[in-house]
Amino acid sequence: MFSPVRWREDALEILDQTELPWKEVWRELRSWEDAAEAIRKMRVRGAPLIGIVAAYGLVLAVGEHQAGKEREVQFWQALEGLKGTRPTAVNLFHALERLRKVFERHRDSPGLRDLLLAEARAIHREEVQACRAMGRLGATLLPNRAKVVTICNTGALATGGYGTALGVVRAAWEEGKLSMVYPLETRPRLQGARLTAWELLREGIPFRLIADSAAGWLLVTEKIDAVLVGADRIARNGDTANKIGTYTLAVLARRHGVPFYVVAPTSTIDPSLPTGAGIPIEERDEGEVLSPYGMRFAPVGAPAWNPAFDVTPAELITAIITERGILWPPFSESIGSILS
Ligand code: MRU
Repeated sequence: MFSPVRWREDALEILDQTELPWKEVWRELRSWEDAAEAIRKMRVRGAPLIGIVAAYGLVLAVGEHQAGKEREVQFWQALEGLKGTRPTAVNLFHALERLRKVFERHRDSPGLRDLLLAEARAIHREEVQACRAMGRLGATLLPNRAKVVTICNTGALATGGYGTALGVVRAAWEEGKLSMVYPLETRPRLQGARLTAWELLREGIPFRLIADSAAGWLLVTEKIDAVLVGADRIARNGDTANKIGTYTLAVLARRHGVPFYVVAPTSTIDPSLPTGAGIPIEERDEGEVLSPYGMRFAPVGAPAWNPAFDVTPAELITAIITERGILWPPFSESIGSILS
């Protein structure tokens, strides 16, 4: 199973996603600061993978030969530093919280680093297992010869292996049920064009990339069976934050009577938020819009607004596919029942 991160002795190796699809560059992260930089600069991205790398980042913060006060200071500093990398994906905070609990329980143990590493590995393993389960469940919702639309990259690159929405695509393909995927290129960072297309090509899954602005016309001219998207944070009522443009797709799907499925592990649910109104939406540098990957399109001096995510209200979501089952509206009840 392909994974974009691997632990090697005392370092984390990551496939640098800012270099894809042009080059496959593996980088070694040796400190928590390296891990924080990789998350902030989106060398690794996607909600589950951000959580996984942050967890390994905390392992890197606890030096093998450190002890006592020095180790403690370093751990809390790393925890705060990693928390500040990207605000929207709640998986980051859930993963850090799991490592914090291990630290609190074993802070004086000489085996602390190994215990933290075991927890980081468990998070990684569980995310991949969740993806496989969601893939199987999601594929049951698709008809034979399905044509689906997706946004951003929700594959192995975003999750540590297999994928969420792209995991459903993968499972449907494995079962011989898929006829075509239409990934949106996903401006401004082009995760669809660069990363999803890279994954689909490697797997031999049939696809046609479309410009974000072609989604509406696609739904008019093709019989699309489902829109499949991932999530960065889901509130208790089902409101879902995901890559900017997801809300637009949900409105289009409703207009055309196409089922709109969110595919996300339970680590993406934020039980502390009653609705999506409280989800922090990351705003990134305007340069990403003005000159993506160094290619300047707007005139010098033009300003831009660059929200990285939007929130799709629960009323536009047909179902949420999690590893613990398919959740149907009313989501306040179905989400409540799997969390209890
Ligand atoms: O800004 P990114 O690339 O980290 O955004 C990723 C997404 O929006 C994904 O759809 C989401 O994290 C779910 S990935 C399994």
